Amino acid sequence: MKDNIVILAIESSCDDTSAAVIRDGELLSNVIASQQVHAEYGGVVPELASRAHQLNILPVVDTAVRRAGIQRSDISAVAFTRGPGLLGSLLVGTSFAKGLALSIGVPLVEVNHLQGHIMAHFLEPSDAYRAATPSLQGVELRHPEYPFLCLLVSGGNSQIVRVDGPCSMAILGQTIDDAAGEAFDKCAKVLGLPYPGGPWVDKLARQGDPAKYTLAKPNIPGLDYSFSGLKTSFLYTLRDMLREHGADSVDKLAEQVPQLREDLCAALQNTVVDILLAKLKKAAQQTGIRRLAVAGGVSANSGLRAAMLDLGRRHRWDIFIPPFSFTTDNAAMIGQAAYYKYLNGDFCPVDAAPYAKTRI
Ligand code: KG4
Repeated sequence: MKDNIVILAIESSCDDTSAAVIRDGELLSNVIASQQVHAEYGGVVPELASRAHQLNILPVVDTAVRRAGIQRSDISAVAFTRGPGLLGSLLVGTSFAKGLALSIGVPLVEVNHLQGHIMAHFLEPSDAYRAATPSLQGVELRHPEYPFLCLLVSGGNSQIVRVDGPCSMAILGQTIDDAAGEAFDKCAKVLGLPYPGGPWVDKLARQGDPAKYTLAKPNIPGLDYSFSGLKTSFLYTLRDMLREHGADSVDKLAEQVPQLREDLCAALQNTVVDILLAKLKKAAQQTGIRRLAVAGGVSANSGLRAAMLDLGRRHRWDIFIPPFSFTTDNAAMIGQAAYYKYLNGDFCPVDAAPYAKTRI
């Protein structure tokens, strides 16, 4: 029997305004408005992000409700991303969620953005949602059993999380400086590639030779990561080549060195993937957990996906990779995490303030 629990979820932690509707754990709609305004600045400008969220939030929520085919009176709870993220961006989603919940008299559920990324593995799209989403046609959605390890890699985080249940997670290791996505984005910027650079690195790496350049790998104890040394190594490799060829820009250097960008991207991607998977493998061996998942924006990377599957094949470990459309920021994953919290009666007060930084 269905309980008819309808969650309206809102995500606004960075530069995507998103709203989704989940009914009894089934995804009915997921609308995302990405902000193009940052492209010309080579990175997200927090003030511009907040303003764009303000413009987008009403039409995005309205579209999500209409696409789900529900009425406002059907909503059982309003969920929102409370953090971590950009404070101004979070304030827009948080305030909107509070206003809406108060006006229709339903409880609020706050969700940690990182837990949301992990819960993307449990999304269950309705038949109508699947039919309207070409990228999901014929895609088998596998949900990991508990416990499992999740490599959470995004623009702001790189962590290995032990997941014992939807509301029970612990960080086993995390970056002590930059995130993997940040390393991709910053190195891409140095190469003159558009923002965000991660997808560009992925695209160019497919045509490059990963063995052409050797980049530094960190030597960090335990299960923690570090990517700042790799960034420096990438920068110095390029600086030395510029000197060697007497070039005063990357464009001029690329005229002299064939495949420059492709080979550097391939080396960068290969090194990031090696660093990420070495620690994930270590975590699997230390914990004895053989179910490994990946989540967050960087899990869209084709090199990382292929290497994860290869790791699984070699060790006979079970690998879980979410569909591409659920890897980047979206409200569906927030709604999924909120659904479990709703079932536990875990609601939040109306004065809950957003937070920029946190641990799971
Ligand atoms: O999770 P996400 O959408 O946003 C947060 O950081 O919360 O992740 C965005 C990050 C960016 O750094 C972006 O460059 C990276 O994910 N990314 C990729 C790819 N697609 C997105 N990095 C490498 N390869 C990709 N295909």
